[in-house]
Order: sequence, then structure tokens, then C-alpha cells
Amino acid sequence: MRIVLLGAPGSGKGTQSKLLVKAYGIPQISTGDLLREAVANRTELGLKAKSAMDAGKLVDDAIVLGMIRERLICPDAAEGFILDGFPRNIAQAEALHKMLAELRTPLDRVLLMNLDLKVLFKRLTGRRVCERCGRVFNIYTSPPEALQCDHCKEQGRLTQRPDDKEEVIGKRLEVYEAQTTPLISYYRAAGLLRSVDADADVDTVFKNIRAAVDS
Ligand code: AP5
Repeated sequence: MRIVLLGAPGSGKGTQSKLLVKAYGIPQISTGDLLREAVANRTELGLKAKSAMDAGKLVDDAIVLGMIRERLICPDAAEGFILDGFPRNIAQAEALHKMLAELRTPLDRVLLMNLDLKVLFKRLTGRRVCERCGRVFNIYTSPPEALQCDHCKEQGRLTQRPDDKEEVIGKRLEVYEAQTTPLISYYRAAGLLRSVDADADVDTVFKNIRAAVDS
């Protein structure tokens, strides 16, 4: 199964990808995670990407496409994958289409996570991430037991992503609207798009996703 999760920042793509990984046994490929890892490791690519990410803008297509090209040919992606946060504009979608045509592995579904703007904002400002294991919490919707990661305990300090600050969130949503929403009609025209109600608890959204995948 080859799936794209399409949706605004904070719509739950990362959370639902992890459940899809367990359910389908295919890897999550998150361009955001790959870029954050490059930034944390201070690689050349990470240094190039950092300023755009901190400002809530998209990283250059050439950087992202290079990363995706390398990742899609890894053996664990042979049976399928979940693309989380990619593609993000029409140029990326067209490049993906070409890559998958060469590999003879077309997409099966594009799932659009639908969520109200107010809810998105709360999810983003409330998100906290464990510095050690990367687990994601939300101080409003899934708070940790103490002010530390439930898994790593006192070694797991919870931090806020730099781009989850209020002043950057607005820019990210603006970029989504301008550059990513054209993908909705692009994938609808290709007959791949399924809409998912993402305004519910995590398990209910996952049921909605399963129904959309199986439809
Ligand atoms: P990226 O990491 O992809 O961020 P994003 O798309 O903005 O999405 P998020 O990770 O913010 O949210 P999400 O939808 O995964 O939500 P989550 O499940 O965490 O990209 C970051 C940056 O990298 C970009 O701005 C750009 O600069 C760059 N980049 C990445 N890809 C790129 C590309 N292809 N091209 C160019 N640049 C690129 O959930 C959010 C919160 O809500 C969490 O706290 C979670 O616990 C909570 N939550 C989730 N689901 C529920 C629920 N059902 N009920 C209650 N709470 C919930």
C-alpha cells in the first residue's frame, strides 16, 4: 500500500502515520522528520534547510526531492510506504509521479486530513516532543503524566518545536493554503483523493483513515 497523508500542519499526519505503520507494516517517510534529523546532526543539507524551517517556509524542492529519491529506493519501502508531509506543492507531486512511474509503483491513496483552523492552532501550540525518544505529546489533548516523557521519565525533557511558536504557525498555515492546497484538486482529478474527518480523538480518526484506505 502506497499512501500520501495530505493535511495542514497539526492535522495529525505524524500521529496517524505511526498507527498506519503498525497496521500495514510499511514505513513512514516524513520529510519533516528527515529534515529535523539533518538539522540536529548539522549536516550540510540541515544547515541549508534550517532557516526556511524556522521561518515556517518550505525547504527547496531540490533538497527535499533528493532526500525522497534516496529514501524510496530503500528495501523497506519496496512493499509500500506512508508519505507524511510530502509532496507539498505541485512540482513535488509531479516529481513524485515520475519517480514512482520509473519504479513501477504508483500511489494507491491520498488521504486528506480535514480539520478546523482553530483546532489546528491548539494542537500545534500544545505539542511537546521528548528530546530523547521523539514521542509526541500535547499539553491540551494528550498531556504527559508529569512534565517529562512518560516513557523516558526524568531523562526525557519535553520541548516545543521552534516552528510551533505562535508567530511561525501563522506563516506555516499560509504556506499550506497557498502551496499545498492545490494538491487537493490535483489528486482528486487523478482519482486518488479520499477525505478524512480528522476532528476527533486519535482512535476515531484512525478508524476514519482505515475506512478511507479500504474504500
Ligand atoms: P513537518 O514536520 O512535515 O510539519 P507539518 O506538515 O507542518 O506537520 P506537523 O508535524 O506540524 O503536524 P502533523 O500533521 O504531523 O500533526 P501531529 O500528528 O504531530 O514539516 C516541518 C517543516 O519542514 C515545514 O514547515 C518545512 O519547512 C519543512 N518541510 C517538511 N516537508 C517538506 C516538503 N515536502 N517540502 C518542503 N519543505 C518541507 O499532531 C500535532 C499535535 O496534535 C500533537 O501534539 C498530537 O499529539 C496532537 N494530536 C494529533 N492527533 C490528535 C487527535 N486526533 N486529537 C487530539 N490531539 C491530536
